[in-house]
Amino acid sequence: MKDILTAKFVKEMQSTTANMYRLGWDERNGGNISYMLDEKEVAEYLDLNNVIRTIPTGFDATELIGKIFIVTGTGKYFKNVMDDPENNLGIIRIAADGTTAELLWGYTDGGKFTSELPAHLMSHMARLRVDPENRVVMHSHPTNTLAMNYIHELDEKKFTHTLWEMCTECIVVFPDGVGVLPWMLCGTNEIGEATAKKMEEFRLVVWGMHGIYGAGKTMDETFGLIETVEKAAQIYMLTAHMPRVNTIKDSEMVELAEFFGVKYRKDFLNL
Ligand code: 13P
Ligand code: ZN
Repeated sequence: MKDILTAKFVKEMQSTTANMYRLGWDERNGGNISYMLDEKEVAEYLDLNNVIRTIPTGFDATELIGKIFIVTGTGKYFKNVMDDPENNLGIIRIAADGTTAELLWGYTDGGKFTSELPAHLMSHMARLRVDPENRVVMHSHPTNTLAMNYIHELDEKKFTHTLWEMCTECIVVFPDGVGVLPWMLCGTNEIGEATAKKMEEFRLVVWGMHGIYGAGKTMDETFGLIETVEKAAQIYMLTAHMPRVNTIKDSEMVELAEFFGVKYRKDFLNL
């Protein structure tokens, strides 16, 4: 059996959480990541018959029975994942009842998966229906995206349009736009269900006055989605209080989308 601390998926969790912390997106225990793993790959590192303990999830994830995820722990700080992955991360498998998680590794101090597991697993289910290659769901509190929530209308067409205007490549990176939810109580099945509903059409979902969710095929793709929104939000926050002299026009966004061959939300432009 190989040493799990050498596994690529553990290293990816370590470097991604470290980057998110370094960028100031994930203060204290803010943010969480879930990453669906390949069973064969996990079996190189862990005995899959050895369930350390079982933890009820409180919701039905029948579509994910048998699927294995590496997930950040609740109350754990992203800044600490690099030095102590085994305590701050856990590997869980959704049990045959669809409502229990089987702990295969991690959460060594008796902890458990993120309080946002409903939003994560429900989003995995929603994205997998649209894109069978989806693997990652990521939640974060990026500073400028959050700041923008307080001064910009929380309307998904207007919010997406403003972000698209802020960096030339935005419409190419997230042509499907950004879904927006109003402020809701976090850590609940209700916010999980609302997020998953948005994930049917968006890979990015803003949680009003809280943060953002991203979903993608790889850790890089998912991180890159949030990073691009955050960059656009930063440009917005640097300029929103000043007169706008220039802007990227809707006709130019169409040129971009057509040149790069992306299917974009035409209804989010004012053509
Ligand atoms: P957890 O510590 O439970 O992952 O919660 C952090 C968070 O960002 C809640 O939205
Ligand atoms: Zn949060």
